[in-house]
Amino acid sequence: MSHLIGRRARLVLGPRITSNISSPIISPIQLLPGTRYHTQDATQKSSWTHPVYTQEQIQSVQIAHKNATNLPDKLALGTVRFLRWGMDFVTGYRSSTALTNNTMTEQKWITRFIFLESVAGVPGMVAGMLRHLKSIRRMKRDHGWIETLLEEAYNERMHLLTFLKLSSPGRPMRLMVLGSQCVFFTGFSIAYLLSPRICHRFVGYLEEEAVITYTKAITDLDSGLLPKWEETKIPDMAVKYWQMPEGKRDMRSLLLYVRADEAKHRDVNHTLGSLDQDRDCNPFSAKFRTQAGKAKEVLGENMRGFELGARKERV
Ligand SMILES: [Fe+2]
Ligand SMILES: [Fe+2]
Repeated sequence: MSHLIGRRARLVLGPRITSNISSPIISPIQLLPGTRYHTQDATQKSSWTHPVYTQEQIQSVQIAHKNATNLPDKLALGTVRFLRWGMDFVTGYRSSTALTNNTMTEQKWITRFIFLESVAGVPGMVAGMLRHLKSIRRMKRDHGWIETLLEEAYNERMHLLTFLKLSSPGRPMRLMVLGSQCVFFTGFSIAYLLSPRICHRFVGYLEEEAVITYTKAITDLDSGLLPKWEETKIPDMAVKYWQMPEGKRDMRSLLLYVRADEAKHRDVNHTLGSLDQDRDCNPFSAKFRTQAGKAKEVLGENMRGFELGARKERV
């Protein structure tokens, strides 16, 4: 991270140069034990400043699904559905559209979010790391994929940190996260080495599920099933990260912002899963604006495969 120095440091004024330069010269940073410094003022934004969503953008997010038309896609979809079943079991999730039969409380939702986000933060980091190593190993450029993948991992971790401000998991939950991270990190790393394309498709389907989960939570909130959230004050870090406007800093807005991020991850990963992993530039990278046409083309192809709203019965 360019904006932080993870070590203790201090700035030291160096000697004046006696020539025509009159201002003091700042020497390279020297380490000073016992003090933590930042290279930028703490009020400055992070390197991965979140783009500002409009209210229209976050309200218009829809549940979508890309049809699995070939064997690799079906494999990715089947794996995600199996994992969702496991997560439903672990987090005590009970789908219900009947108001009288709802079993999801505010606490159960937060538990589910925390577990979901702790898993969701893995793929982007693994994919970014493996592409980084590949670039070094092959001594070739990466075509802009790494930054998008690492930014996705950062974004997922911000989701997790936000929900952790609302609830502190106990030891069983922490053990569960530890266990799932060991298994998922190992499995996803091996899978990404074997077939990055299937892995991006897998993440696309995983993000479809995330959009479904947040949509259901918003629906429950709107139905009056989660009264505590109507009074809940959302964390300041969320307000700053998403740059949430005045009057839109409640729990419902927070869920809308997070859901918009998940929809973006869904579309990005479905697109990356349709590209040539070695040759194509990442069309979402700022460095490859000229590829924007290609992104539209690929995303358009995906969107035609989406069955908007077709899976609402599964939420
Ligand atoms: Fe997330
Ligand atoms: Fe996500």
